[in-house]
Amino acid sequence: MDYVRIAPTPVTYIGWGATEKLIDEVERYDGNNILVVADPILVSLGITDKIVLSIRQKGYKYDLYTDLVPEPVLETGEKLVQFTRKGNYSLVIGIGGGSALDMAKLAAVFIHNDGDLADYLNLTATKKIQQKGVPKILIPTTAGTGAEVTNIAVLALAHTKDVIMHDYLLADTAIVDPQLTMSVPARVTAATGADALTHAIEAFISVNANPVSDGLALQAIQLIGRSLKQAVKNGNNSAARTDMMYGSYLAGLSFFNAGVGAIHALAYPLGGQFHIPHGESNAVLIPYVMNYIQKSCARKMAMILEALGGNITGLSDDKAAATCVEQLAALIKDIGLPVTLAGFNIPATAATSLAEDGIKQKRLLARCPMTLTQENILQIYQSAVSGVLTEAPAAMFQ
Ligand SMILES: NC(=O)c1ccc[n+]([C@@H]2O[C@H](COP(=O)([O-])OP(=O)(O)OC[C@H]3O[C@@H](n4cnc5c(N)ncnc54)[C@H](O)[C@@H]3O)[C@@H](O)[C@H]2O)c1
Ligand SMILES: [Fe+2]
Repeated sequence: MDYVRIAPTPVTYIGWGATEKLIDEVERYDGNNILVVADPILVSLGITDKIVLSIRQKGYKYDLYTDLVPEPVLETGEKLVQFTRKGNYSLVIGIGGGSALDMAKLAAVFIHNDGDLADYLNLTATKKIQQKGVPKILIPTTAGTGAEVTNIAVLALAHTKDVIMHDYLLADTAIVDPQLTMSVPARVTAATGADALTHAIEAFISVNANPVSDGLALQAIQLIGRSLKQAVKNGNNSAARTDMMYGSYLAGLSFFNAGVGAIHALAYPLGGQFHIPHGESNAVLIPYVMNYIQKSCARKMAMILEALGGNITGLSDDKAAATCVEQLAALIKDIGLPVTLAGFNIPATAATSLAEDGIKQKRLLARCPMTLTQENILQIYQSAVSGVLTEAPAAMFQ
């Protein structure tokens, strides 16, 4: 097979001030009975109110649902879906980071699909989504997940994380306005930015990478590489916030089309077992996974180094790949996130159960340019606990 499937969100408005297009989009859909699913922090900051002001002024009625938590667990989603089914809503507007947007996607789709969300989880599914549900407009307020352009919703389970995946979970309209990220605290800016960077890196080295996803990913890496530190250091830097928003959007498109891989696969158990926010669990693993697999994707890592602003003149691909790992490790440190699992108080003894859950993420591991065994995954977790970078045994590349 020599072709790829590209399935973008039908309409996107992106750039400073794009939020003003919301009212036009509401008018395009049936806005008679709107459900706004919003992160409660954004309501308390007055951001939600500003976003929906134009809707109120035009006389549209909406219910506001805010019973959400960051990194939503299955129960958060089940409760929302029960609520939605009682409401006869015709349109869902999601406002927030990936956590709120994923919930808005589930609300819009499961209003017309029966059963529990648990029946539809990727690792254990017994049912398939049948109905499209009602239209959804997604408005991200973090520069990270790319949830506004992907067809998944992520839920935290007791030991790991899992997704519900279907094209019906795609937004009908995405409104991507960097202005909405100005209030994101430094630590969340760092974590979400590292998530976006991980999306771009993993899509770029994915076995499913193609010229479309490569173009998107490289541009995302450039934008994030030049502005992540600035956005963390000074949240009022609107140019850096704008780069990060374009970067996370491009990274979202790239990974939606080429997939993420081993970093995400190993991050999910950290989220499930230790409740580490998604971006932070990716960030801490980036150097350890990339160092381990570098020989399987050295050329592409040289290109990543270049996109990050590094000079690869005169460097062999292997040397550039090693330098790329160093640069990525330095970046994670510079943005103030923990650089080892020990930094999250995760003991070395946890590596075994993390590896048991990590190997189950077959869908993600299948995109990694190197086939990882449970033993390999254990070694990566062990190196991430200790902070000592480890490479895959040379025999794996002979
Ligand atoms: N659907 C997808 O394609 C996809 C991809 C990657 C991750 N995810 C999921 O998304 C979730 C993480 O989303 P996230 O990283 O965007 O974080 P988040 O939505 O959990 O938000 C992180 C924190 O930032 C706050 N916040 C959000 N916007 C803010 C703003 N503008 N100002 C001030 N505070 C703000 C939130 O209240 C929260 O406390 C996880 O559950 C993850 O698994 C989804
Ligand atoms: Fe992610």
